[in-house]
Amino acid sequence: MESPAAPLGDVTPGDLDRLVCTDDFHAAARERLDPMTYDYYRSGALREWTLAENERAWHHYAFRRRSLVGVADLDPSTTVLGHDVSFPALIAPTAFHCLADPEGEVATARAAAAAGTVMVASTLATVALEDVAATGAPRWFQLYVFTDRGLTRELVERAVASGYTTLVLTVDTPTVGIRYADQRNHFVLPPGMAMANVAHVLDPSLAASGSALRAFSSQFDQSLTWRDLEWVAGLCDLPVIAKGVVHPDDARAALASGAAGVVVSNHGGRQLDGEPGTADVLPAVVDAVVDAVGDAGIVLVDGGIRSGTDIVKAVALGAAAVLVGRPVLWALAAGGQAGVERLLALLRDEVVDTLRQLGVPHLADLGAQHVARV
Ligand code: GLV
Repeated sequence: MESPAAPLGDVTPGDLDRLVCTDDFHAAARERLDPMTYDYYRSGALREWTLAENERAWHHYAFRRRSLVGVADLDPSTTVLGHDVSFPALIAPTAFHCLADPEGEVATARAAAAAGTVMVASTLATVALEDVAATGAPRWFQLYVFTDRGLTRELVERAVASGYTTLVLTVDTPTVGIRYADQRNHFVLPPGMAMANVAHVLDPSLAASGSALRAFSSQFDQSLTWRDLEWVAGLCDLPVIAKGVVHPDDARAALASGAAGVVVSNHGGRQLDGEPGTADVLPAVVDAVVDAVGDAGIVLVDGGIRSGTDIVKAVALGAAAVLVGRPVLWALAAGGQAGVERLLALLRDEVVDTLRQLGVPHLADLGAQHVARV
C-alpha cells in the first residue's frame, strides 16, 4: 500500500522538510535504522496478512463529499477523556523508542506536547515512566499484566504517582506474536539499553535463540480474563481503557468490567495474523458501545493509520480519535523530537484539508453520512 517515497539519502534533521508524508518518514527511517530495529518496528505476525489489511481496510470506505457548506472556520480539535487535543490523533504505545533515537520516549513525549496531543507510554519503554512524566507531556500509561501481580500493581502505583491520567490495558497479547524477522534476527535490545520500567525485576535477556521479546513475554499473565480488568480498575481511580478489542461482545465485556472505553486494535497486525483490518470491525464495536452506555463510552482505533484521510474516516465511523504507531517510530528515527513534531503537524494539516474538502467545518459535524463502504 505504500506510495513511492522520494529518494532521501542520509536524512538529517535539517532535511526534514523534504519529508511530506508517512511513506517518506518510513523510507528515511529504513535508511537510518539498523536492520534488526527496522525489522522489529515494521514486522507483523506470521504472513503479515493482518499487517497489510490494516492499511487496506481504510480504503474500504470512500468519502461522500458535500459542497458549499461553509468551511472557512475549520476546527479539527476535540477532547479525549478530558484532554483537549489539537486534532483527533494520539501517540500509540509502542516499545523501545531508544532504538530509534537516543532520547527515546522523552523525545516522543515532548513532540506530543508540542503538537497538542497525548503520549501513551508503553510498559516496554526504554525510558522510565517517571522520566517520560518529567517532560510534562499529557500522558497515559499502557499496561501489561504480568504473572507477578505485585509488579503490575507497582507499575500502576508509579503511573498514578507520576501523573498519568489514563491506564490503557492491553488485551490482545497473551504472549508476543511470532514475527519471522525477529526470530531470524534473534531480536534483542543492544547492551546498555533496558526495558526501563521493569528491568529491576525482569530479565530481558531470557532468550537463547529467537526473539528475546517473545521469550520475555512468557511473563505476561495468560490466565487473564475480564475479571482482571475489574482488578486493574480497582487498583486506582484512573479510567481504564481496554486496548485490543475487535469483537462487539468484548467491547460489552470491557464496559461491564469497569472500562471507560476501548481501543479497537489488533496490535498493529503483530499478534493474530488473519484477522480483519481494524477499520472493518470498528463500526460494530462503536454500535455495541453506544448500545451499552450511549455517549459515556469512548472508542479509539489504531492500525494502518497512514494519512489524514484515514483519521477522518475513523472519526466518521465513530471513533473519538486514532492512535498513531509506526509512523511515529519512523519520524523519531528520521529526526528525533523534531521529526515527530513535523509528522504530527503534517497529519494535522491533512486532517484539516480533508475536512475542508469534504465539507465538514467541525469534527462534531462528521459522521457516518460522510463515508460509504465500497
Ligand atoms: C510490543 O508490544 C510489540 O508488539 O512488539
